[in-house]
Amino acid sequence: MYRSRPVGNLDSDALSFLSSMDDDVDLFFYDILGSQAHVIMLFESHILTQKEVVDILIGLNQLVSNPEQLNRPGINSSEDIHEMIESAIIRITGIDSGGKMHTARSRNDQVVLDIRMKLRDDVNSICTEILRLARSLVRVAEENVDTIMPMYTHLQQAQLGVLSQYMLSYCYSLIRNFERYYDAFTRINASPLGACAIGGSSMDIDREKVATMLGFSGIVYNSVDATSSRDFLIEFVSICLNTMLDLCRMSEDFILWSTSEFGFIVLDDKYSSSSSAMPQKKNPDPLELIRGKTATIQGDFVSISSIMKGLPSGYSRDLQELKPLLWKTSSTLRDSIKIMERIVSTLYVDKKAAYNSSSKSYAIALDIAEQLIRDGDISFRVAHKVIGALVESASTRGNIPMNALSVDDIAIVLKNIDFSHPILTSEKIYKTIQSITPETSIKLRRTKGSPNKNEQAFMISYLKSVLDKYESELEHRIQDLTKMQNNLVNRIKRIIDQGSP
Ligand code: ARG
Repeated sequence: MYRSRPVGNLDSDALSFLSSMDDDVDLFFYDILGSQAHVIMLFESHILTQKEVVDILIGLNQLVSNPEQLNRPGINSSEDIHEMIESAIIRITGIDSGGKMHTARSRNDQVVLDIRMKLRDDVNSICTEILRLARSLVRVAEENVDTIMPMYTHLQQAQLGVLSQYMLSYCYSLIRNFERYYDAFTRINASPLGACAIGGSSMDIDREKVATMLGFSGIVYNSVDATSSRDFLIEFVSICLNTMLDLCRMSEDFILWSTSEFGFIVLDDKYSSSSSAMPQKKNPDPLELIRGKTATIQGDFVSISSIMKGLPSGYSRDLQELKPLLWKTSSTLRDSIKIMERIVSTLYVDKKAAYNSSSKSYAIALDIAEQLIRDGDISFRVAHKVIGALVESASTRGNIPMNALSVDDIAIVLKNIDFSHPILTSEKIYKTIQSITPETSIKLRRTKGSPNKNEQAFMISYLKSVLDKYESELEHRIQDLTKMQNNLVNRIKRIIDQGSP
């Protein structure tokens, strides 16, 4: 349809090479909305007559209720959704009305308008899923304030903790990503329409009016910026990657914790796969796939930024390649959060297994060292040496727990490292070790954000109030977009009613 200068049709292989139709399916609805607002503005700016706008609006409504019309020969050979809808409107209304729909507009501002509108919805639905998962994490945390388990650094047992603290840590991190999306929305939510091909238009159009009709908070002012920049989209994908990396880390933890060796959690059968060969197997495939899909999103992020690298200002067709990557990133993330939410909320926690592992663990070593500092007024470094030597001795005796060391065992170690102290005798150190159980280890941890019960309660109630606030803010944002669509539908109805004979 656009071939005013080139002669004849595109070669059919060239057409299928150029076509973005497969990726534009997701834009159909937004492209219609954009066109509706655009033609209403053209009418109110006295560029379209009442008959013309009514013809076009009726035509657009027909396409929504009966999209099969787009499949007709001559229309289905379009390069993209923008050309397809315009061709269909011209077919329905005739060129005199339909031919005016694209006045003061280009596919260059149109495509980025559609992308921004879809991304707004994607951000909102991803944010909804993030809050859902965060809620479930808080719920599991509440049930596991007393579930003592080892915490790991370098994947070696480090300090004792409680499962609730792990769950809440992911919740904090998800909330930060929610905030990033929430903030990024404000940069996505600006209308590029009216920037035209790159340099605006000499027609007397009202860019702000279209922006308001479509629920945007304003316009992307500079027409070169409006058509060329994709920073809003790179920002979106980088938050997707960030969020996916959270899910990936959670997956890795859950996969480990569900092994026979750890045994802290059991995944619900609904979220476990089996083996074609080994009947005993119950595999954490959904978690592995989240981990695998994180790599694909990382790849998409690199591809997207690479497409942008080296482009001149202004629209180039390379930009079309962004769309499939963007849609895939968005839907993969949304699906992954959903699955993770189900896994979290159906998780069985084996509190006994976690406790057993904790009670045998040397992860109480730091608590004992800190107790020695308080008991004997020694420096941390000296306490570190004493406890390190005791752990080494317990470990060479067949990995016995520290509280299985006798007074004599301790005396030998103290002698070996030349440690003598008026208060910290082997008897005293023995008593200290005996006094530090997994429970006291947790109780003794007094710093903000640590695993003790009060801190868990504080974090849980803080996170609940943050989630309450964000859930209601997000709800308003989503309602605003629904209101925008309803207003547009009513406005269209009024124009059609007034213009119909
Ligand atoms: N199909 C194109 C895309 O997805 C739309 C814009 C085409 N503009 C152009 N001047 N060829 O990016």
